[in-house]
Amino acid sequence: MLQIQENISLKNFNTFGIDVSARYYVEICHEDELVELFLDPQWLDTKRLVLGGGSNMLFKDDFNGLVIRINIRGIERRLQNNDVFVEAGAGEVWNDLVNYCVDRGYGGIENLSLIPGSVGASPVQNIGAYGVELKDVFKSCRAFEIASGQFKTFIKTDCSFAYRESVFKGALKEQYIIVSVKLHLSLLPNLNLKYGAIEQELQSRNISEPTLKDVSKVVSHIRVSKLPDPSTIGNAGSFFKNPIISRAQFEEVHSKFPEVVNYPAGDDFKLAAGWLIEQCGWKGKIVGNTGTWQNQALVLVNHGGATGEEVYSLSSQIIDSVYSKFGVLLEREVNIVA
Ligand code: EPU
Repeated sequence: MLQIQENISLKNFNTFGIDVSARYYVEICHEDELVELFLDPQWLDTKRLVLGGGSNMLFKDDFNGLVIRINIRGIERRLQNNDVFVEAGAGEVWNDLVNYCVDRGYGGIENLSLIPGSVGASPVQNIGAYGVELKDVFKSCRAFEIASGQFKTFIKTDCSFAYRESVFKGALKEQYIIVSVKLHLSLLPNLNLKYGAIEQELQSRNISEPTLKDVSKVVSHIRVSKLPDPSTIGNAGSFFKNPIISRAQFEEVHSKFPEVVNYPAGDDFKLAAGWLIEQCGWKGKIVGNTGTWQNQALVLVNHGGATGEEVYSLSSQIIDSVYSKFGVLLEREVNIVA
């Protein structure tokens, strides 16, 4: 029997550690419970929020609706020659899935070690780090359509994956709830070591032929050295996307700031938002209970007791100052829940 709770604190359910509450709250441990939940038409008409690990959202206020926390567990695998298909429940912790695969020699997601959040959120954001994105290994996902009460399977081409984007954030926003994700991994891993810091760290450890475990350890080490641990300092990883600008705009920025950190992205250019923010003097700055992280200006943090409004207001100030210095508009990567 589903238990709908009322006036539940969400402080431990968002990695920013913002102290807000949900008017209604339900935990889903099995996909059939979604069917059961929406048999009651009340919930079709109520404002809803689907929560996984809460690692990519900022609550600006109490949530006056129904929070649906997905806690569907389980990992299954199927081997076919050197291919491995791993299917995980949306409520699994992403990094537990990474460890499960690395421990068994299933290659493909080792560069995504230690990304906070749940498996179910991974396709929504098309999570990525150190030269790998979820879309590179994504096979399919199963999702519940709220309006029809039916389940549907999405294959990769259905998902419109792009940099930190997917159909689940775009055209189908809030229409589906992901219940499981299937990845296509390999027993013959094609290690992706092109990200400079990985190479350097492997060299400094005298590792010339890295294993999956080595890569996972090195990536974890890099993350820990740069990014604050949400269990001690509230944060949601990169707060903004790295902006992608046209060649013409890039040339303008580059002529004034030749040292601008950039990466070619097809015909366009991606700029390092952390660099832009640091150049505006924000790196490590403390503003009330919030601020930017000392080792990575792209990460906004809660130094304790910050409200969502406070963090949001800092993010607006950062957007304004980057825009006035560089003419580049930063876009928030974190979902803002108002
Ligand atoms: N930089 C600065 N100052 C800073 C931060 C960065 O100058 O304060 C410059 C440096 O030149 C650095 C470059 O920016 O070399 C890139 O920085 P970093 O390697 O830390 O990566 P990022 O572009 O800031 C992205 C992802 C991260 C992911 C890393 C590694 C986005 C929005 N962020 O950050 O993802 O871990 O690359 O691949 O794309 C996340 O999405 O939450 C996240 C942490």
